[in-house]
Amino acid sequence: MTQQRYTVTVHLSDRSYDILVGRGLLASLGRELAARLSSASTGPRQALIVSSPEIANLYGPKVLQSLESAGFLVRSAFIPAGEQSKSAESAAKLYQALYDLAADRQTIVVALGGGVIGDLAGFVAATYTRGLDFVQVPTTLLAQVDSSVGGKTGVNFGSAKNLIGAFHQPRLVVIDPETLSTLSARERRSGLAEVIKYGIIADKVFFDLLRSEVAGLLDLTSEHLAFVLAHSCTLKARVVEQDERDEGLRAILNFGHTVGHALEAITLYQTYTHGEAIALGMVSAALIGEEAGITRPEDTLAAIGLLRAAGFNIRLDSSHSVDELVRLIAWDKKSVGGSARFVLMEEIGHATPGHRVPEAAIRRALERQAALVL
Ligand code: NAD
Ligand code: GLY
Repeated sequence: MTQQRYTVTVHLSDRSYDILVGRGLLASLGRELAARLSSASTGPRQALIVSSPEIANLYGPKVLQSLESAGFLVRSAFIPAGEQSKSAESAAKLYQALYDLAADRQTIVVALGGGVIGDLAGFVAATYTRGLDFVQVPTTLLAQVDSSVGGKTGVNFGSAKNLIGAFHQPRLVVIDPETLSTLSARERRSGLAEVIKYGIIADKVFFDLLRSEVAGLLDLTSEHLAFVLAHSCTLKARVVEQDERDEGLRAILNFGHTVGHALEAITLYQTYTHGEAIALGMVSAALIGEEAGITRPEDTLAAIGLLRAAGFNIRLDSSHSVDELVRLIAWDKKSVGGSARFVLMEEIGHATPGHRVPEAAIRRALERQAALVL
């Protein structure tokens, strides 16, 4: 396998940062980080690695050694794996860990893990002493192509996901594709849904590359793996640069998420991984786009073809009530803006936000999706 390394810069004036992608990069984390920090601080800087015990077992020693050899004083804090750890209670544990090590504004938080660890550690970094620097070291495919980039941090509260949060950009993101080798095949496929999303919403050439590389991306043998990770980050970065605070364009990153979120909610987050729900939701969005006269059937078929090649189920399970889904979709939309607006695909490689779609059209699309013949 080739050893390409990529640097993607997220341009956000004084909050700009690099995303480094390449095999073996965990070992260079300390050096890359030290090179980006101001030398004005006196004495060695402290770093708190936040991880789960499982991920720390796999990758902690390499990260620790890399930071220590670059001169950081390193401590670790562990949070159990799983979405339930993205909580105010876990945040409090991390505040305590920072307090115990007398963290100051020079202390760096290093998030080593998937999106749960990244969102939680990022939120703690955003809020402790009104903002510590933090570094994302994402270890799931989803975190490498999505959650580690863009500065959305937060925790869940009650039954609401990401209810408490802050925008806080990392100082650096270090993506080592080698970490994906220990991830389950199901989690790898799940992350690929977001990669396919970028092709659909923003880049037809990338979409075509994914079509030819899908098998090798799933089993990690594709020589284009690092490029695919880096390019996904580039596509997200270009959106975030234009709309950091999610006030307009950034909504296109939610293509497929309206129905996807409804499917996750209707199944109490037990049936689908996030990516599996988003894969189904992207097909819904394409069919809704057809019903709204925006999406061409041949583009829907192309999206379905790639999702199926990646192994996703794309037919809506007939046990899901369309009435209930429509109710959840309306609720989701009302909670964020007041009326039902969708991100729709104009063609492969180009999606636009803000489309109002009548309920009857949504209903027809979902019924068609439940009746898809494969
Ligand atoms: P996750 O963090 O729960 O990780 C999934 C599982 O994989 C966990 O059990 C984890 O311990 C394990 N794991 C992680 N890396 C591994 C590795 N290299 N080898 C073996 N096992 C590994 O899930 P996720 O899909 O990474 O992230 C989901 C979270 O991301 C959700 O909370 C979601 O809200 C959030 N998210 C945030 C953003 C954002 O912009 N901030 C975007 C998308 C999703
Ligand atoms: N995952 C969507 C966003 O970052 O806006």
